[in-house]
Amino acid sequence: MQLDTLIIGAGAAGMMCAAHSGGRTLVIDHAKSAGEKIRISGGGRCNFTNMYAAPENFLSQNPHFCKSALSRYTQWDFIDLVARHNISYHEKTLGQLFCDTSAKDIIRMLLDEMTKAGADLWLQTSVTDIRKQDTGFKVDLETDGTRKTVNCQNLVIACGGKSIPKMGASGFGYQVARQFDLTMTDTRPALVPLTFGDDVLSDLKQLAGLSVPARVSCNGTSFDEGLLFTHRGLSGPSILQISSYWREKDAISIHLDPAQNIDTELKSRRTTSGRRNLSTTLADLLPARLAQHMIALSGLSGNLADQSDQTLSLLNKLLTNWQLTPIGSEGYRTAEVTLGGVSTNMLSSKTMEVKTVPGLYFIGEIVDVTGWLGGYNFQWAWSSGWAAGQAT
Ligand code: FDA
Repeated sequence: MQLDTLIIGAGAAGMMCAAHSGGRTLVIDHAKSAGEKIRISGGGRCNFTNMYAAPENFLSQNPHFCKSALSRYTQWDFIDLVARHNISYHEKTLGQLFCDTSAKDIIRMLLDEMTKAGADLWLQTSVTDIRKQDTGFKVDLETDGTRKTVNCQNLVIACGGKSIPKMGASGFGYQVARQFDLTMTDTRPALVPLTFGDDVLSDLKQLAGLSVPARVSCNGTSFDEGLLFTHRGLSGPSILQISSYWREKDAISIHLDPAQNIDTELKSRRTTSGRRNLSTTLADLLPARLAQHMIALSGLSGNLADQSDQTLSLLNKLLTNWQLTPIGSEGYRTAEVTLGGVSTNMLSSKTMEVKTVPGLYFIGEIVDVTGWLGGYNFQWAWSSGWAAGQAT
């Protein structure tokens, strides 16, 4: 079988690329359905992009690499596409756009666009061998128990990262990268809950289920979003975000409810209601179980009027700079994305083509470009998929 373009992976990036490739295109995927991660994303509503997406929202060893694709296919281009397909959507928070009805609308849209572009899709198909030819590639496939060989001018690797093996993540793309001697940056789970040793966990477990607004900081980066206490440690958007910046042995700093000035509030209440218990008063400002826990950690007791400015300032320091040191993360089992991947030094930022292997492309999560939580990772899949689609 002769093809212009073979795309391995019918996820977000692969489908986007197929919808914009010219010539004879085939997309293959080992899963039973296309776009499985899209289907489960955003709690089934797919946070498909972010209105404020900009290169600053992405991590990469080369922070400039993503600029070209993101500026040539922007969030507004994808929003136009969604609108053309009459998919209704809304902004949830911080520019994050979600489908009103179902993430399946986005999958249907991409499948429609692929059909319009004349691309074929083979599911439950895997690759058994890839050989470079003088021009193009020979790829052996196994589909429906039969072996097929395809010749293609362009081979696009769009098979995602290592996150959530249960959803079809195979790490296959890294194997292809190694086959062609491409440099890889270190990979690690990102956008993932953080875990703690028994000493800290025994305390955190007592807070399980509580959610509070927080500013979580690590290594010079901060996120103001929700924080969730769980039986395994800490989760919620602020923790998932900071997990991309956290490294082993680093402490994270938590500023509880940064929109409130708890110190000023406690000092003012000391004047008006000094006979109230400190812990009970803090429970007016923070969830009660958390308030009790923080007071216990501070070692303070008694009424508000018993507290000096100095002791209240010590408490404030704890509430605004609560230092905790995770021992790890929940890993690829629950990580939304893989940080790192195929080094951007190996790729053209305009087309995603491997500089040393004409006709070979890497797009989406497998590339060392990782977005923040909030629709940025899909935007990278759309932009990088589009860029390779234009070139193939
Ligand atoms: P993706 O993983 O989507 O697709 C890869 C495809 O390749 C899969 O279909 C897989 O089956 C196939 N494949 C793998 N190995 C293969 C092999 N050996 N042979 C054939 N096929 C193979 N992002 C965001 O912006 N907004 C959101 O709301 C969310 N929500 C979210 C929730 C959850 C639970 C997760 C795990 C992730 C998210 N994300 C997200 C991240 C987002 O899903 C992710 O960044 C993109 O799906 C990456 O797109 P890709 O196309 O690169 O990989």
